[in-house]
Amino acid sequence: MELRHLRYFVAVAEEKNFTRAAKRLFIAQPPLSRQIQQLEEELGVELIEKGSRPLRLTEAGTFFHAHAQELLAKAAELKSMTQRVGKIDRTLSMGFVASTLYGLLPDIVRHFREQYPTVEVTFHEMTTMQQLKALKEGTIDVGFGRVKSEDPNIRRIVLREERLIVALPAGHPLALSDTPLSLVDLLMETLIIYPKAPRPSFADQVLGVFSERSILPHKIMEVRELQIAIGLVAAGEGVAVVPDSVQGMKRNNVAYRALTDRHAVSPVMFSVRKMDTSEELRNMLETIYSVYDRAGISYIRESL
Ligand code: BEZ
Repeated sequence: MELRHLRYFVAVAEEKNFTRAAKRLFIAQPPLSRQIQQLEEELGVELIEKGSRPLRLTEAGTFFHAHAQELLAKAAELKSMTQRVGKIDRTLSMGFVASTLYGLLPDIVRHFREQYPTVEVTFHEMTTMQQLKALKEGTIDVGFGRVKSEDPNIRRIVLREERLIVALPAGHPLALSDTPLSLVDLLMETLIIYPKAPRPSFADQVLGVFSERSILPHKIMEVRELQIAIGLVAAGEGVAVVPDSVQGMKRNNVAYRALTDRHAVSPVMFSVRKMDTSEELRNMLETIYSVYDRAGISYIRESL
């Protein structure tokens, strides 16, 4: 029994007529009748009630019809999945911190996909510390994070140092002019930091830029993630120090202001398993540098 027999029988069962089934299959009626006869001989059972008009299936025919449909659907699925696997050479699984998604990450991935359409790219939102674990477990191939944590199994490339800015509730007195603010201007505000866990995190980086100047805002509120911090800023609960790319997250009731403090920066890091110099990773790094070149962003080039 071949797939062809199943296709022929399903057509006959659905059309309830040999002439219409033959037309649908683009074959003549006599060979179709012969194939169905062969099938019944091979199975040793009648599938179609003799002499019925319109044609009726026997109990065995009804059973065979249902299972033949299932097998044909499975064969079609197998064909398309195999074709897909054949077209996808490799995969690149990426972990990223949320702030990168509002900045250059979408642009970088679009360029990468244009140049390497047969590489399947997958995304996983996670903190920098979670990225290190996921790299070692093999869940991701590259992490885009912000915390400079040392790990003997991980190679870390600092792509660039991104300026930090302040997110303020719209209408806040500090949001009324466009002139850059100083960290000192924020001391009387509630500073909303994220993520609360795992630590160290971007939250510690923000506290670090204040403590480098030996200052600290009078009240700190720790929240789980960037979106919650910005939501609370919009609600007037406090202010948040965030990477410049977060301005890409347009929100009503939030105003963004630059900072004058030169050291108020956050690194964007490319982390990979040590010794992993796969072609996909090398191509990804080159794509990032070409996006930086186009955007006029300065960086120190490294290679894998
Ligand atoms: C960046 O903003 O520089 C960046 C974001 C995601 C991936 C790589 C770089």
